[in-house]
Amino acid sequence: MTKFNIPYGRHNIEQDDIDSVVKTLQSDLLTQGPKVEEFEHKFAKYVGAKYAVAMCNATAGLHLAVLSLNLKKGDRIITTPITFASSANCARFVDAEVWFADINPETYLIDIDKTRELLKSKPKGFFKGIIPVNFGGLPVNLEDFKKLADEYDLWIIEDSCHSPGGNFTNSKKQDQYCGNGNYADISVFSFHPVKHIACGEGGMITTNSKEIYDRVMLLRTHGITKNNMKENHGNWYYEMQTLGFNYRLTDIHASLGITQLAKNDKRIIKRNQIANKYIKAFNGKVKFQHTPSGYLNAYHLFVVEVKKRKKFFEFLVKEGIVPQIHYIPLHTLPYYKSIGYENADLKNAENYYKNCFSLPMYPSLSDEEQNHVIKKVLEFVNKEY
Ligand SMILES: Cc1ncc(COP(=O)(O)O)c(C=O)c1O
Repeated sequence: MTKFNIPYGRHNIEQDDIDSVVKTLQSDLLTQGPKVEEFEHKFAKYVGAKYAVAMCNATAGLHLAVLSLNLKKGDRIITTPITFASSANCARFVDAEVWFADINPETYLIDIDKTRELLKSKPKGFFKGIIPVNFGGLPVNLEDFKKLADEYDLWIIEDSCHSPGGNFTNSKKQDQYCGNGNYADISVFSFHPVKHIACGEGGMITTNSKEIYDRVMLLRTHGITKNNMKENHGNWYYEMQTLGFNYRLTDIHASLGITQLAKNDKRIIKRNQIANKYIKAFNGKVKFQHTPSGYLNAYHLFVVEVKKRKKFFEFLVKEGIVPQIHYIPLHTLPYYKSIGYENADLKNAENYYKNCFSLPMYPSLSDEEQNHVIKKVLEFVNKEY
């Protein structure tokens, strides 16, 4: 029997988070109150974008992102097969087609050369947009993707669910924070508990476009607005201008988001310290996600590749370590198979999936716990390889 019970990810709720939620619970407004707006303003400032709109989760955010960019039935987008289903499903919500570009075998991110090949293989106008994913917390180089997107008249939705606070240095030596809107039309973040900022459920989209912002605001609340009041209208007057949804975040969730956001930079430093310790211990022995220089990996995950993965998984579980696999390639899931993706040629993604493995990564992981993880990983590798 081991005394350890170490998950791959864990939320981190402190007294100030609890106090903030309790204060909202004691206030007059539980939803559509001041906390959502405060969270939006603070989040927009944090990532350096003009606008932020809070949502009930990132999947809703991705849905409104594609709607606000007018993605329609029969249109086509490109994304990575190594991501959570929502990054691709958002296109399916509007009956658009998903095309996958293979990953880079070192960074595990969507490969720009494979994306270019795909674009070149079809006439201009065939694709409408690209949805790159900052997988594991490592930002995609959106400056390069934006150049490619401009060549083919595409929009970009940055799936930044793994990377609030991550950045990369662009060709002008400026740090580009995920979600700042300099290259992507829209960025989407998740506040699921296992992510950096835990709201329970929650999401945010950021953009620098007033037009997209207005459209997302309208769609988030049933397509209803009070923005068209005339002098002769009573105060009750509103208009439903389009078919929208109830994708609002509550003030309860937002008040948690505000206190969590304030701690994000400090926690990313801790996540990087944990990653550096893994890297030092595994260098030359275990392959891990490569973070090129000039990139601040927000380290939502610490992903390694191991042989005999199932045996390794079972061995770690016995040792009190509960890892996870991110992700089963989307084109191999029954739903995507059933709509014709069965024979997609995505070798890097499939090879990656055979060996990938997410080790514990969260700011409250103690030294003792991490030492135990490292010891057990190396024990397995030394014995089995
Ligand atoms: C890359 C990615 N995109 C989108 C989502 C969807 O986020 P949510 O659970 O907030 O809808 C997730 C959640 O796991 C994710 O990891």
